[in-house]
Amino acid sequence: RLRREEKAWQINALARDFYQNVLLQYSEAAMARDYIASRGITADIIKDFGLGYAPAAWDTLIKFMRSKGISVSDLLKVGLAVSGDHRAYDRFRSRLMFPITDARGRVVGFGGRVLGEGLPKYLNTAETDFFSKGKILYGLNRARQAIRDMGYVIITEGYMDTIAAHQFGMTNTVASLGTSMSREHGQLLMNYTREVIIAYDADAAGVAAAERGLDILQELGFRVRVLSLPEGKDPDEFLRARGLDQWRQQVENATPLVEFKIQRALAKYQNGPLFRDAVLEEVLPALATMSGELEKNEAIRMVAARLFTSYHVVAEQLQRFTNNNR
Ligand code: UTP
Ligand code: MN
Ligand code: MN
Ligand code: MN
Ligand code: MN
Repeated sequence: RLRREEKAWQINALARDFYQNVLLQYSEAAMARDYIASRGITADIIKDFGLGYAPAAWDTLIKFMRSKGISVSDLLKVGLAVSGDHRAYDRFRSRLMFPITDARGRVVGFGGRVLGEGLPKYLNTAETDFFSKGKILYGLNRARQAIRDMGYVIITEGYMDTIAAHQFGMTNTVASLGTSMSREHGQLLMNYTREVIIAYDADAAGVAAAERGLDILQELGFRVRVLSLPEGKDPDEFLRARGLDQWRQQVENATPLVEFKIQRALAKYQNGPLFRDAVLEEVLPALATMSGELEKNEAIRMVAARLFTSYHVVAEQLQRFTNNNR
């Protein structure tokens, strides 16, 4: 098992270097270089994050790997090639390549973005027992020292969000790659901090992701706060439009999870019948997972005030919820 993984890391690292060489040297990659420049990405970042470009032809990588003594069947195993009706072909073609590393910097997979429009926008290495987005935080190998030093981590959705944050100096930033936070994600972060700021996209998908997954982090003992960007924006767009100082301000003003949930629930159920029960139902999981009696009591008091009810009523509901979910 270990030998198999080591071989996969080696092949992936070779592919990363190949794709990067294509991006920097091939005339075919001129459009990719223009695209990267149009998104404000610097030469330094290309190097630091190992960005590359996969050519359009169906077998460029297969040929390169063969010249290095790596077989098609090895490429099929690590997901860099796909078996077709007659023969295998490169999985990634005409895509901007983002190597995905584990916390120790080993290349475990790739994301590939189309230049401009097209579906899927990002093609990722297929999920296997070897590669799973639910167990990886993009950028963690480059972020972990800063997370320790700064005392908290910022979690974004996307490749470009994390890259932009690092480019602007917020190197304590990682990405969950469009998935909601899992127990495994939490366990990865526990080695470095217990303070999390969620900076997902200000769109329906991002808000929905923020409403899931985060109770798990609290349950693991993290203090979770949620950053709310202007409608439709993501961190990459915000940083490049408004700059670092305004981003820092967003980070400082991030909302504690329970407060975020009650705001969302109040907006959703305003004035509806049984609105108090509906709101409580959404907020209780976040209350239940809070650690620290003082903070928890304060949160119960806040929820009670927002619902025009007493501390006692909310505390009682919370007790019932906790008992039912034991
Ligand atoms: P977004 O749609 O917000 O893309 O998806 P983005 O990160 O802002 O990318 P740009 O700025 O348009 O280039 C957030 C993340 O969800 C995953 C990727 O990890 C992406 O960064 N995703 C999205 C996929 O894996 N596949 C997709 O087709 C779309
Ligand atoms: Mn550098
Ligand atoms: Mn989005
Ligand atoms: Mn984006
Ligand atoms: Mn986005």
